[in-house]
Amino acid sequence: MLKHKKAAAQLLGGVLAAFFGAGQVAAAPDAALVAKGEKLYNQNCSVCHQPDAIGKPGFAPSLANPEFLSIASDKFLMSTIRDGRVGTGMPPFSHLGRQSIKAIVAYLRSHEKLPNRAAEVDAQPDAHGDPRLGKQWYDNICSTCHGMAGDGYAAGGTGTAIGKPGFLHKVSDGFIRTTIKEGRSNTRMRGFQGADGLANLSDQEIDDIIVYLRSLSK
Ligand code: HEC
Ligand code: HEC
Repeated sequence: MLKHKKAAAQLLGGVLAAFFGAGQVAAAPDAALVAKGEKLYNQNCSVCHQPDAIGKPGFAPSLANPEFLSIASDKFLMSTIRDGRVGTGMPPFSHLGRQSIKAIVAYLRSHEKLPNRAAEVDAQPDAHGDPRLGKQWYDNICSTCHGMAGDGYAAGGTGTAIGKPGFLHKVSDGFIRTTIKEGRSNTRMRGFQGADGLANLSDQEIDDIIVYLRSLSK
């Protein structure tokens, strides 16, 4: 699959180069950057996030997950990789430098299967609601996997540390909202809206949970 994509990107790059002249291919997918990123990924990340970034429940989340990539902005990915998440298993990689982190992001993006809608998701309005009601939902439904205070794996579950600043300070309310609504396919994070969800939460209930989560990192 990846090989095909790469070959296609190279072919496209070649065709564009022939058509426009080498100077104009900058907009074509940069196969060299992706290859560099793949190498860096294998050296620095695959020990936790696994080969092909598929993740490992309770150890490191999937970075190839389609829903995740579709709502993650480059800014979120770059800064999370640079700073890591303090108090979790995700170390900072600022020593790699910006160009290398950019290459890793290009490699992660080469797994992208859904159209990217990070800009639209990040532009959603902030959540408004009642943190006390949000806490009730959180304690009843989310804490099993994410830990009572959003501590993540440290609490023994399979969910990440969504109550910690390393996550909360880097995401928009739209990112959190969309993840709760739609979940992440083929992970234990199922969506919480519609009949297939673990629970069918209303938009207001989801916003109550977001307001509660935000209160944890203050
Ligand atoms: C020692 C293990 C380890 C290594 C090495 C590691 N990570 Fe992580 N990473 C984690 C853990 C654990 C988390 C989840 C932290 C939490 O609970 O919030 C994470 C989270 C992330 C996230 C956020 C994902 C999400 O679902 O929001 C990104 C992006 C990420 N890592 C990228 C990378 C990249 C790129 C590398 C290599 C440069 C890397 N990580 C190396 C353990 C690791
Ligand atoms: C059955 C376990 C489970 C339950 C219950 C659960 N989650 Fe998750 N959640 C996960 C897992 C697992 C992930 C990360 C997916 C991965 O590992 O690739 C996740 C990811 C997330 C993320 C993205 C975090 C990040 O690091 O990018 C948010 C936000 C989130 N969950 C919110 C919630 C909320 C709010 C609830 C309760 C309404 C909830 N989850 C209930 C397992 C769960």
